[in-house]
This record gives sequence, C-alpha cells and structure tokens, in this order.
Amino acid sequence: MAVTGEVYNTGLLKRIFQYVKPYRAVFVWSVILTILLAAISPVRPFLIKYTLDNYILTGKYSGLVNMTILMIFMLLLQTLIQYNHTLLTNTLGQSVIRDLRINVFNHITKLRLKFFDKTPIGQLITRTVSDLETIADIFSEGLISMIGDTLQVIVIIVVMLYTDWKLSLVVLLPVPLLILATRKFQKAIKVAFQEIRNEVSNLNTFLQEHITGVSIVQYFARERQEYKKFYAINKRYRDANIRSNWYYSIFFPVVELISAMSLGLLIWFGANSILSNPVGVTPGTITQFIIYLGMVYTPIRQLADKFNTLQMGMVGAERVFKVLDTDERTPDSGILKPVKLKGDIEFKNVWFAYNEENYVLKDLTFEVRAGETVALVGATGAGKSSTINILNRFYEVKKGEITIDGIDIHDFQLDYLRSHIATVLQDVFLFSDTILNNITLNNADIKIEEVVDAAKKVGAHDFIERLPGGYQYNVMERGATLSAGQAQLISFIRALVHNPAILVLDEATSSVDTETELLIQKAIDNLMEGRTSIVIAHRLSTIQKANRIIVLDKGEIKEEGTHQQLLRLNGYYKKLYDLQFSSEGIAKST
Ligand SMILES: Nc1ncnc2c1ncn2[C@@H]1O[C@H](COP(=O)(O)OP(=O)(O)O)[C@@H](O)[C@H]1O
Ligand SMILES: [Mg+2]
Repeated sequence: MAVTGEVYNTGLLKRIFQYVKPYRAVFVWSVILTILLAAISPVRPFLIKYTLDNYILTGKYSGLVNMTILMIFMLLLQTLIQYNHTLLTNTLGQSVIRDLRINVFNHITKLRLKFFDKTPIGQLITRTVSDLETIADIFSEGLISMIGDTLQVIVIIVVMLYTDWKLSLVVLLPVPLLILATRKFQKAIKVAFQEIRNEVSNLNTFLQEHITGVSIVQYFARERQEYKKFYAINKRYRDANIRSNWYYSIFFPVVELISAMSLGLLIWFGANSILSNPVGVTPGTITQFIIYLGMVYTPIRQLADKFNTLQMGMVGAERVFKVLDTDERTPDSGILKPVKLKGDIEFKNVWFAYNEENYVLKDLTFEVRAGETVALVGATGAGKSSTINILNRFYEVKKGEITIDGIDIHDFQLDYLRSHIATVLQDVFLFSDTILNNITLNNADIKIEEVVDAAKKVGAHDFIERLPGGYQYNVMERGATLSAGQAQLISFIRALVHNPAILVLDEATSSVDTETELLIQKAIDNLMEGRTSIVIAHRLSTIQKANRIIVLDKGEIKEEGTHQQLLRLNGYYKKLYDLQFSSEGIAKST
C-alpha cells in the first residue's frame, strides 16, 4: 500500500469534522476544558515552590496549612476537569464513528454486486469495524489532547522563563535533541502502523472466508495447509507489531536519557547558583523546576504517540472514506411505478458482459408474455443466471433493451422494479433470525396470517409448526439448522408473501432430495399461478410444464419452443435432453 494519509491532509480532516457538526457543543466544551487544564497545570508546582521558600524554609507553619488546603482544592478541581474532559472527548469520538459507521453500512448495502465480485468481505468488515475505531481515537486520544499537550508545554516554558530565564535556558538545552528523536520515531512508527493495519485486514479476510468455508476445509482435510497459511499471515501480523514495539522500546529510554540530562543540568547549575549567590535560585525554584521538567517532557514524548494515533486515525479515515466514495451504486434515475404491473417481459437484442467486451450474452431476443412460464435451459456457463441477473438490474445490459409492460427497466424506480420481481436462488441465504423474519425480511406490512397462508400453500406449514417455537424458531446463521429442502421452502414462502408480478427461479429445485421434490413441485405450481415466471430448471417436470423453452448455448439462443416441438426438432435440446434428463426420465417411467 502506498504511504498516504498525511496528517496535514486538511481535506481529510475537514471531512471528518463534517461528522463533528451535530456534536458541536461537545467539541467546543472539550476544547475549553483542554485549554483550562493546560492553563492550571503550572499552578500547583508554583504553590509548592511558594510554600517551600516562604513557609517551610522560614518555619511559618500557619501558612503551610492554608497552602495545603489550597493545593488540595486545586487538585480536586483538576481531577474534576480531567474527568469531564475524558468523558466528553470519548463521547465525541464514539458518536462520530457511530454516525460514520451507519453511513458506511448504508452505503455498502447499496453497492452493486459487481463491487462485491472484487472486494473481499473481510476487508469490508475491517473497514466498518477496526478502521473506523481508529477514527474515534482522533478525538479521544489524538487531536484534542495534542492541542492540550502543546498548550501545556508552551505555558510551562513561559512560566519557567518568567520564574528564572537563565536557569530555564540551561535546563531546556537538551530539548532540541528530544524534538529530533521524536521526529525520527514518528516516521518509523508510521510505516509500522500501516503494516499493522494491512495485516489486520488480511487476518479478517482470511478468517471470514475460512470460517464460512470451514466445511470445505474439513471435507478435503486441508486443515494443515490452511493452518500453514494462517500461520504465515499471523506471523506477519506479529512481526509488524513487534517492529512497532521495537521503535517504542528505543524511543522511551532515549527520552529518559534526554530528560535525565535536563535534570542533571538543573541540579548542577541550580546548586552552583545557590552556593555562589544566596539571593538567586532558591530551593523552591529547583523543586518547582523538577516538577515542571516532567510536565514538559511527558507531553512532548506523548505528542509523538498522539501524533501517531492521529495518523492512524487519518489512515483509517482515508480507507473508510474510500469505501464511501465507491460510487458503484446502481443508478436509480427511473421514476415510473405503475399501480399494476402485468409482467410482460421482452428482451430486445440484449448484449451483456461482466467485464468489458467479454460478452456472456449475445443478441438475446425473446418474450415472456404476462402469466406465461418460460424455462431457460443450457449447459453450465451458458448464461442462464446472467440472463436473470440483468432483469432485476443486478448487472447492467451493455447493448439492447429489456422492457416490462413495454417500459424500459431503467425507467422504473429501482425499488419498484426489484420488489415486483421475486428471485429464488439455488443457494438459499437465511439470516440468523426467526423463520418469520426470514420470510418477511422485517417488512412490518406483511402480516403473520399472510405468512401462514403462504406457508400452507407451499406445504411448509406443518414442518414449521413442528419446530420448537414454530415461526419464531431461530434458524441460526445461514440457516444451518434446516435441511436444504426446508430452507428452499422458506425461500418460496419469502417469494410468495412479497407477492411479485414476476417470479424468477434459478435452479431452485436442484439441491433438494427426491422426497421433498414433490412438495416443492406443488409449491412451485402455487407460486407460478397468475404470475409471469422465468425458471432455470434441472428437473424435467418443471421444464415440461413451461409454455416455452429457451435453449441457451454460450450466451446465444439456440432453439426455442415447447418441449414436444424441441424434441421433434431433434437438435441441441434433444441432445441436452438425452444427456441430462434421460436417466431421470427412465427413473420416472419405472
Ligand atoms: N460475477 C461474474 N463475474 C464475471 N463473470 C461471471 C460472473 N458470473 C458469471 N460469470 C461468467 O459468465 C458466464 C455465464 O455464467 P452464468 O450465467 O452463471 O451461467 P449459467 O447460469 O448458465 O450456468 C460464465 O462463463 C461465467 O464464468
Ligand atoms: Mg447459473
């Protein structure tokens, strides 16, 4: 990855601050408290000096009590401010990333499938979770406290100079050294951090894929090989972390060394001055300066760290915004949403390619009249799924036109178009939620009675009722607790309750055992009733019932007609039929 995301990238910072706007009051208070903290930080050491010089060394014990009370009060005040400061900056950071995360999720769910074809899911999860987390730190640990630290250093140096400028200059002599070391550290650690972010993304992607596909790993006994791959990624992650820690382990002792130099200079010069000139430097001043030195060095050391936090946040923000900037949504410029859709589908000289010019559908022309059922058949890779993918605009036609009721599909509102086409795929996806929610997809307009009604129609009501909790049964992730056939039935109910004008089935029966097949066949009959249907089918029974069959080969229409017509033609379909269905046919006739 290129080294980008500089802190002085003001455009990026501005963009982050767009998200601060709703929390302006919190932000302003955070800054005010930061300034307050910096301003009162030199007061206590000053009080200590004053007490030492004027009360302790002179033996005025009455004043000592008052000063102690004053110091306790200052301490309490400081604690109170600190508490509110931490609370506010964290609230700000978390609020900002909550809003941002919602935006990112919203955006991702609207991206077209083409984007997901080339983007690993683990990467997107990293963006929406851990990359986003780093942005919160900009507020809680980065930017605001950097302002505070800088202010504190300035205030203390000014107070020091005011108290004793000669002593101050001597004591601060090693500070340029510190600044130099800090710069070097910062540069090195930035690269290390970027490596860490990359490896986190790799880890997530690998884990996500291999846990989802764990059954493949186990079926093929690939645990050892996958373990090795995971080991390698893990090692890179560990090494990147060790590298960054190594920089810290050098930087911190160096800072200690430099601050010890200052301390040495302070004692040497201060003591000399006390001995040679009793009215110059006082023991109180030395005590005060010892504390001040800590208050100068610690923030400068922390500044390097906070600068990195800021930088991490910026790197994270850059990645998150990159997702937000992916403008791969399906354009939705259509405005038509007729009250009733008949479902007359027409493909007119349609050409389609997933990648430029590599056409998988060539010059497709066919019609499915309202209420008709058309079956698409053809070898694997012929373009059957592609044909239905462009009907609901998951992918876009390159040339030609698809119309429904004579209207170009681009002229419909996208939501309208998609909600009138129900697609049932071979791989049913179920969310880890109740059966009911998986059917309605949380559409409150669909009543439970309609769901039960639909379930009875497709013949699934009985098995659902038998599940613990019935329609409230939680199917667990990806429907793991249901059989393929049961999951398929659920997806039919899903299609039925959404009451679409057009029904698309993509090999919806191929993963079902013979026992459920009859059930499913009945379900499909019920589903297709009164609708326009396009079915991609393996089963002869489904194909035979179709009004027409379209035979696809390498993206082109080879033949078209009814089952009987095509058999008589004795062409491609006949060959396909003999190869694919003859055994099924024999099995059925016996
Ligand atoms: N998301 C995709 N990106 C790129 N190429 C794809 C994608 N999906 C399918 N293809 C290609 O398009 C061709 C047609 O695939 P598809 O329509 O899925 O065939 P079928 O459903 O008839 O088996 C195949 O050559 C396949 O490799
Ligand atoms: Mg397919």
